Amino acid sequence: MALPVRSLLRMLVLPVFLLSVVVWGLAHGQEKDDWPVPEEAKKAKNPVPASEAGLAAARGLYAENCAQCHGETGKGDGPMAEMTSPKPADFSDVHLMADMTDGEIFYKIGEGRMPMPSFKKKFSDEQRWQLVNLIRTFAPKPTPDSKKPGPAKKPDSSHKR
Ligand code: HEC
Repeated sequence: MALPVRSLLRMLVLPVFLLSVVVWGLAHGQEKDDWPVPEEAKKAKNPVPASEAGLAAARGLYAENCAQCHGETGKGDGPMAEMTSPKPADFSDVHLMADMTDGEIFYKIGEGRMPMPSFKKKFSDEQRWQLVNLIRTFAPKPTPDSKKPGPAKKPDSSHKR
């Protein structure tokens, strides 16, 4: 009762935010594979060749804007991924990534989907294609003999804080 309204509010902000992330995730968790991408967007060809300079630029953008959720090495294990549902995809999963076109990745970076922000306004098209090129480096190139399940992937949720 004696608590000033402001500190009460401040105490509420974080839990309410976390709760809404969780509730949102629960409500949408089953839609994981259902992120519709227009055919046109899927077919878009990447006009930006992967260059050292381009990858370096993308690495900087990625570390600042993506790694907190997608993880340093793209495994979807960033510190904030703990709180998201669905979880971000594992960009090092060869099979998963083989199913995803460059255009699709480009589109998804542009649009975002809760909880992932939209980057259409923040980045230029070129920057987004460079990010696509960077994301491609997280998964080893698929080989003709890629029947084996790539690098051991376990949905790591062990390190709760
Ligand atoms: C707040 C956490 C968050 C941030 C920041 C974020 N993402 Fe995501 N991203 C997600 C989540 C969660 C998904 C899965 C969304 C879904 O399937 O509905 C996702 C999905 C994706 C996908 C589609 C593959 C998939 O997991 O379904 C790509 C590509 C992607 N993100 C790239 C990026 C890039 C590049 C950045 C930085 C420019 C970024 N993301 C920033 C959380 C984030």
